Amino acid sequence: MPDARQPWALVLGASSGFGEATARALAAAGYDIAGVHLDRRQGQAHVKAIKTAIAASGREAYFANMNAADDANRAEFLAGLRERFEAQQATTGRQPYVRVVMHSLAFGTLKPFLGPDADSSINRKNMEMTLDVMAHSLVYWAQDLWRGGFLGDGSKVYAMTSEGSTRVIGNYGAVSAAKNALESHCRQLAMEFAKHHTGVTVNAIRAGVTVTPALMQIPERDELIAHATSKNPMGRMTTVDDVARAIVALSAEGTHWITGNVIGVDGGELISG
Ligand SMILES: NC(=O)c1ccc[n+]([C@@H]2O[C@H](COP(=O)([O-])OP(=O)(O)OC[C@H]3O[C@@H](n4cnc5c(N)ncnc54)[C@H](O)[C@@H]3O)[C@@H](O)[C@H]2O)c1
Repeated sequence: MPDARQPWALVLGASSGFGEATARALAAAGYDIAGVHLDRRQGQAHVKAIKTAIAASGREAYFANMNAADDANRAEFLAGLRERFEAQQATTGRQPYVRVVMHSLAFGTLKPFLGPDADSSINRKNMEMTLDVMAHSLVYWAQDLWRGGFLGDGSKVYAMTSEGSTRVIGNYGAVSAAKNALESHCRQLAMEFAKHHTGVTVNAIRAGVTVTPALMQIPERDELIAHATSKNPMGRMTTVDDVARAIVALSAEGTHWITGNVIGVDGGELISG
């Protein structure tokens, strides 16, 4: 039986990289898009272009430029989303719900643990901020979305992880820790959503090394790109569209039993020597 509800996707990190590509792909597949991003003024024209592309797909775009790890911002954003839902239901008669949640935030400290002095080494604030934005914020969004009744049977939560969760890479220590925490949070949320019989599934998506603004911030990027290119058995690096297409496919009907996993979307990069 066709679903009478209107699917929305909430993309945290919607202005760039994986989040942008997935927001665009889900809009083309019929989802309305709620997007959160954190950009300076020079990035706003790009955000406007993304919203225009979503509108051109005939879908709604509700975006906010804010720190996704801030509790007050999150509450305000969700209050605005609720108003959108109520207005949409009143005009279309369809029940909106958040079918896809994507956590794709890149905001980490890239300092070594053992720099030559305290200033060039990671400190408590750096560590806590990286873990809060890149991992713990997933839990707080999931709590509020669930308690607020935004999720429904068939909703899917995805969080972007990387090979860095199991490999040591230069100055990636704090992000590596965040990826471990994020994968753990996905398992815990998957189990708790299942026990509450919500019909909500949660999986981490482990993308291969992909050229995005976040990758270009990593000091070891050239080595990472060269390594991924030579190692990937598909003969090329992962692209943001590879991940976007995978998320659209995984979000279709019939995937309700896939939960609590780390799903590789890397063309076989991790398993290749
Ligand atoms: N690029 C890679 O090779 C790669 C591989 C595997 C996993 N990942 C992961 O994928 C995720 C997305 O990375 P990307 O490469 O697409 O990065 P990106 O820099 O292209 O995009 C990051 C997005 O996060 C937003 N953002 C950052 N901090 C924010 C905050 N505090 N509040 C709200 N929005 C914020 C930015 O505005 C942007 O929209 C990250 O978690 C990253 O670790 C990246």
